[in-house]
Amino acid sequence: MNSFDFYSPTYFVFGRDRETEAGTYVKKFGGSRVLVLYGGQSAKRTGLLDRVNESLRSAGLASVELGGIKPNPKSDMVYEGIELCRREQVDFLLAVGGGSVIDTAKAIAAGAVYDGDFWDFFSGKAPEKALPVGTVLTIAASGSEGSPDAIITKADTLEKNAAEADCLRPRFSILNPALTESLPPYQTACGVTDIMAHAFERYFTNTPDVETTDRLLEGVLLAMLHEGRRVMADPHNYEARANIMWAGMVCHNDVMGVGRKQDWNSHHLEHVLSALYDCAHGAGLAVIMPAWMRYCVEHGGEKRFAQMAVRVFGCQMDFDDPKRTAMEGVNAFRAFLKDIGMPLTFAEIGADPADIPKLVEMNHIGDGVTGGYIGLDRAAHQEIYEIAAGMRD
Ligand code: NZQ
Ligand code: ZN
Repeated sequence: MNSFDFYSPTYFVFGRDRETEAGTYVKKFGGSRVLVLYGGQSAKRTGLLDRVNESLRSAGLASVELGGIKPNPKSDMVYEGIELCRREQVDFLLAVGGGSVIDTAKAIAAGAVYDGDFWDFFSGKAPEKALPVGTVLTIAASGSEGSPDAIITKADTLEKNAAEADCLRPRFSILNPALTESLPPYQTACGVTDIMAHAFERYFTNTPDVETTDRLLEGVLLAMLHEGRRVMADPHNYEARANIMWAGMVCHNDVMGVGRKQDWNSHHLEHVLSALYDCAHGAGLAVIMPAWMRYCVEHGGEKRFAQMAVRVFGCQMDFDDPKRTAMEGVNAFRAFLKDIGMPLTFAEIGADPADIPKLVEMNHIGDGVTGGYIGLDRAAHQEIYEIAAGMRD
């Protein structure tokens, strides 16, 4: 296992109705003038926003709002939020929503206390400080409620980049699984897919002797196969939603990623799809991941995939032909994605095979390679998009 630092100071508030305590927690973490951020429709329609605002009022907190944040959030909303924070002397940001709302809040939080352009933080410079952010999570997916990351798309160029720093970790996150019951089934399934992707990105590693994190990751993947099917069959199953919500957090706050080199090629390959076609991030992953997995199995990565196939998907190990076992696991994962209603083809997410050279270009690979498990150069990126587009048998 590699040496590591791990700092995960977010305070988690989990359970039914806990959003009514939002005001208490904003106060506890030093807020007095709050910017409440939310998405397009859902938080208003379900009455959640009213409950959160009431909680802030009863705690004696002043607040302003920024609504209308869209999935795959763009930089223009961040600039608007930075202006608003400065004008209203905001000292705390409360994101009521999913990854898109939380990431916008994090980007505004860093940009509001920075003299330059906030995009610097999405071009390689790490932010050193940010206004405090709290969250009321409404979809289990991105893990942004416990992660040090924010993902924003630049409105004019469609570059979808990440910023990462411990100062971006939320001070607190309120996780009420019942809030996710209003999700359309498709979004619930996209969330499960993203959660599993965050486990896979960490699982596929060349770092030896990481049995503890291997077994933790396998455990969460097994839980998602079970709970994913359970929630799709019964969308009002609180216990299934509770297990999925906590999995979303543990899969991305990095408690299971420490001490091992991680991969992240699936996310790299996917982010340009959701940037260009505005598909849900989980849907893009469902199309890319099985293609990426097949590429890895065919290019020397079969050992870990066979391990996954046996331990997570219950396949029988073929010691004479580990590639066969590995592909059985990949196919079992693909079948699970299909079962929960995920798209599997380029066409289903509105992607055009003719765009593949453009997608490769957007990945900015140059002469290098990406990823930590099987390094991918330009030709490999091209090949994986072609597999995903059904252009290779
Ligand atoms: O805007 P509203 O009306 O709220 O609708 C949203 C949106 O259409 C809807 N929704 C959310 N909660 C709901 C609900 N509808 C009904 N009831 C509810 N309770 O769901 C849709 C998707 O919301 P979004 O916030 O976009 O989903 P998600 O949490 O999957 O976030 C996706 C974004 O996070 C980024 C992705 O790239 C994408 O931009 N990621 C962020 C990460 C991070 N910060 O650590 C890591 C991830 O890998 C990911 O890249
Ligand atoms: Zn993700």
